[in-house]
Amino acid sequence: MARVALVTGGSRGIGAAISKALKDAGYTVAASYAGNDEAASKFTAETGIKTYKWDVADYDASKAGIAQVESDLGPVEIVVANAGITRDAPFHKMTPDQWKAVIDTNLTGVFNTIHPVWPGMRERKFGRVVVISSVNGQKGQFAQVNYAATKAGDIGIVRSLAQEGARAGITANAVCPGYIATEMVMAVPEKVRESIIAQIPAGRLGEPEEIARCVAFLVSDDAGFINGSTISANGAQFFS
Ligand code: CAA
Repeated sequence: MARVALVTGGSRGIGAAISKALKDAGYTVAASYAGNDEAASKFTAETGIKTYKWDVADYDASKAGIAQVESDLGPVEIVVANAGITRDAPFHKMTPDQWKAVIDTNLTGVFNTIHPVWPGMRERKFGRVVVISSVNGQKGQFAQVNYAATKAGDIGIVRSLAQEGARAGITANAVCPGYIATEMVMAVPEKVRESIIAQIPAGRLGEPEEIARCVAFLVSDDAGFINGSTISANGAQFFS
């Protein structure tokens, strides 16, 4: 039986590329999404990958959504916590709502995604957890106090989970994408985006598939001794 993989935020951007790469690698994939029904239906029509709607910021909704995935497809053995948002603003202008929205989705959302599947992984003595962090969690970023805090938090999460899961055959790793050609990066004002690209030695944005290939490797059975690590894919923009 093919292992079941859940990718949150899995119908758009980097998440969509991850969902497709895992399907191509032979897994049964479920992609969750928060709100864009049209994009999700289109994604399912194009790829045959089932999509499920819930808000990762809501623990009960995550638990219920994951229970539905497991009843449809089988136990989730691979989880990719990818769903994330930005609410960029210089700190002096950042509102408590902007802070809270990003913390709730990007950080609490990771807890809400992994916590419901963790007991099953422990019982079955196998699990693969990948959290999509960011170069901006490693280096910080102007106008991203909220986002950088969550993405740095992801690294703490996987380093802790790695120690807790290792003897139960579970690995937990983070992937830190640099600036990737997705809607999120395209939303950055053009002039700012150009100045960012100028700071990337590769001279270009990354492609979502370049991140998806890192994830496909980390979730494979062959990657069992890679645990608690952080893989950077950022075109040499930053070394940690
Ligand atoms: N470093 C230093 N100064 C910067 C700066 C930077 N990176 N970016 C902007 N500034 C400066 C500007 O030059 C300007 O200075 P002056 O006032 O002296 O002219 C000031 O900061 C901007 O102030 P504003 O009041 O005009 O700012 P704003 O309220 O309009 O906010 C912004 C603009 C939200 C900061 C906008 O510039 C922006 O979106 N920047 C991009 C932030 C970014 O990189 N986000 C990453 C998104 S992609 C992502 O998150 C994915 C991932 O994981 C990599």
